[in-house]
Amino acid sequence: MSSPLSTPPVVAVTGAASGIGLAIVERLHADGWSVVGADRVGDGLVDGDRRAPCVADVTTEEGNAAIVACALERFGRLDGLVCNAGISGAGAIDRQSLEELDRMLAVNLRGVVLGVRAALPALREAGGGAIVVTASVSGLGGDPEMWAYNASKGGVINFVRSAAIDLAHEGMRVNAVCPGGIVGTAMTTPIERHAPDRFEEMRSHVPMQRWGRPVEVAGVVAFLLSDDASFVTGVALPVDGGVSAGTGQFRVRPSVP
Ligand code: NAI
Repeated sequence: MSSPLSTPPVVAVTGAASGIGLAIVERLHADGWSVVGADRVGDGLVDGDRRAPCVADVTTEEGNAAIVACALERFGRLDGLVCNAGISGAGAIDRQSLEELDRMLAVNLRGVVLGVRAALPALREAGGGAIVVTASVSGLGGDPEMWAYNASKGGVINFVRSAAIDLAHEGMRVNAVCPGGIVGTAMTTPIERHAPDRFEEMRSHVPMQRWGRPVEVAGVVAFLLSDDASFVTGVALPVDGGVSAGTGQFRVRPSVP
């Protein structure tokens, strides 16, 4: 988006039916983008002025082709892509099923690769464009019994770096946001409702002493997509209240009795 467009810029957002993806859709729409909201479920997707719904599974090439086709048919171009769809899961290394590992890699890593590959021709046609991937702080380090999720998010962060290098000469930027714990999403509401001790423990580990909100991730995604980030590519930007800034060695300030 380096030169003024005669029509609003167009972005496709995956995982748009709930949580962080829905907040991203609403923020980008408010910023003036035309938005394709894609999700494997239709509930929560909106059809309206500068908003088009697309029911699609990001783990398939057909699903990703359908998302790009929706943008081109409805709005005539594609300037941005937000690969946000994701799933999580936990379990001991020798007990969590390999099927669950495969599902997490399929959505969180392969789904992003397929999304980028599908969008490239349209982004090139639009003269460049920007891609943002919702990774996680869980891709920057390890968490107890989250090895599969950690591996999928760590993998996608390095894919983002690699894609940023490969696509920079075409004027395309590729970045990741790395949220910490974000409340009010389908992924974390079960922890809030059914595991209050864990919910509170996670909050207490955050230097800012709170969970984040979906709109706080959406704002950073909007920045990375915008021309304000025109010299930013290949970064994995934490949106985590300071979690990834620490070594994890101490939680208590020595001066506080
Ligand atoms: P969510 O469960 O509310 O949203 C995820 C969306 O992705 C859902 O609407 C779901 O239907 C969709 N989705 C899942 N598999 C799909 C597929 N194969 N094809 C198309 N859509 C699919 O969860 P949330 O929390 O909003 O997560 C969004 C992203 O943020 C995920 O990538 C997640 O890993 C990441 N994240 C979330 C954090 C949190 O604390 N909520 C923290 C760090 C990262």
